[in-house]
Amino acid sequence: MTAPDTRPLTATRTFPSGFLWGTATSAYQIEGAAREDGRTPSIWDTFSHTPGKVFAGHTGDVAVDHYHRFAEDVRLMSELGLGAYRFSVSWSRVQPTGRGPAVQRGLDFYRRLVDELLSAGIEPALTLYHWDLPQDLEDAGGWPERVTAERFAAYAGLVADALGDRVKRWTTLNEPWCSAFLGYGSGVHAPGRTDPVAALRAAHHLNLGHGLAVQALRASLPGEAQLAVSLNLHVVRPLNPSLDDWEAARRIDAVGNRIWLGPMLEGAYPRDLLTDTAHLTDWSFVRGGDAATIHQPLDLLAVNYYTPTVVSHVAQGAERPQDDGHGDSEHSPWPGADDVAFHRAPGGPTAMGWAVDPDALYDLIVRTTARYPGLPLVISENGAAYEDEVGPDGTVHDPQRAAYVHAHLEAVHRAITDGADVRGYFLWSLLDNFEWSYGYAKRFGAVHVDYETLERTPKSSALWYSRVARTGRLHA
Ligand code: NOJ
Repeated sequence: MTAPDTRPLTATRTFPSGFLWGTATSAYQIEGAAREDGRTPSIWDTFSHTPGKVFAGHTGDVAVDHYHRFAEDVRLMSELGLGAYRFSVSWSRVQPTGRGPAVQRGLDFYRRLVDELLSAGIEPALTLYHWDLPQDLEDAGGWPERVTAERFAAYAGLVADALGDRVKRWTTLNEPWCSAFLGYGSGVHAPGRTDPVAALRAAHHLNLGHGLAVQALRASLPGEAQLAVSLNLHVVRPLNPSLDDWEAARRIDAVGNRIWLGPMLEGAYPRDLLTDTAHLTDWSFVRGGDAATIHQPLDLLAVNYYTPTVVSHVAQGAERPQDDGHGDSEHSPWPGADDVAFHRAPGGPTAMGWAVDPDALYDLIVRTTARYPGLPLVISENGAAYEDEVGPDGTVHDPQRAAYVHAHLEAVHRAITDGADVRGYFLWSLLDNFEWSYGYAKRFGAVHVDYETLERTPKSSALWYSRVARTGRLHA
């Protein structure tokens, strides 16, 4: 239950000094330049070029052309007074086949980007994997195969050797739940496979890849480097307070959250997850020693949060709503949870159809803090898509987005007041960009992008966020 907010309504919320104020993006969603400087296709290039996979056939070929406009984008951040920037590295740019030595031209792009950030006083936060596996590695079996985890660690080492002198904040994986279960389960994300066993195998090898990558990073990076993983932790709520609905919530918590938290932070897969999925697999792809490899000390846990997940139990044979907010597919992204139905939560919704529920973010932070005391948190993504309109004077007035962010920052502040150690907040996203299977149809940016001219225009929410970031204060 959420504790009542007893703070005065008109108070100004002051965030701790040193709190990081940033925005986040990812390589495939913004870079473009898909065939430049030795880059080869990733699974998202293949998927987006496959008819019927992405809205209106959109691809990341050009995206918002950040590869060529990064200096302008850093200038924008600097003008907005932002202190941090979370971006991801395209594996296919750095190691096109997913094997062998690094391509220096690929690494040079990230060196230039990081140098530009540092000279603008913006702290870089680098994510190694934001869903864009080199296609060659998928052709060799992809994440369901163990070798992919080993390749990932080798790639992590190459990037650390190249950028470890200038990047302090490192994240291994972004939302591995999506890579495993949307990529190999429901198939709404690349590579578009629909096999629940492959999805569970992928989950394990993503976990293993994380552990091996942390080892490779620690071996290469200076001692002060901060290592994290970004998880989209689901705030799971039962539709009704019935035993059956609580059981549905438990199942989703197991395969949505504890499948990562268990091995990464506690050293083992949760027993109930193994039981829930026993009819699919005996998990014999987990080898002796894997648990210890995955269980590496982390400096921070990075959390992405957008909306809660409301579930109920559905009797066998009964029709169940399929919409869990992760796209349409006749295949479930939730192995072991065939009798769970998903419901739209009250509040909002945003243009994604996602309920707006900042209390769920508060709950997420305090519960995670209670379970993992001493592990600092960072909100590595939060934000909203809305149907933005460009006014006759060229400006974009998006009070809904500012209200969304305001309400969620209130929740973060309240959690901090109640004792949580939250080190920063990264708004998703700096720019409108390629929203995966929705293509360019959904706009999450604080900065508007005209997809004809690629012109950038800060929306009114960006100017509002800029004031918060500069002052570290939120006015009620
Ligand atoms: C999470 C993902 O990390 C990001 O790539 C995506 O665009 C946002 N959520 C919004 O759906």
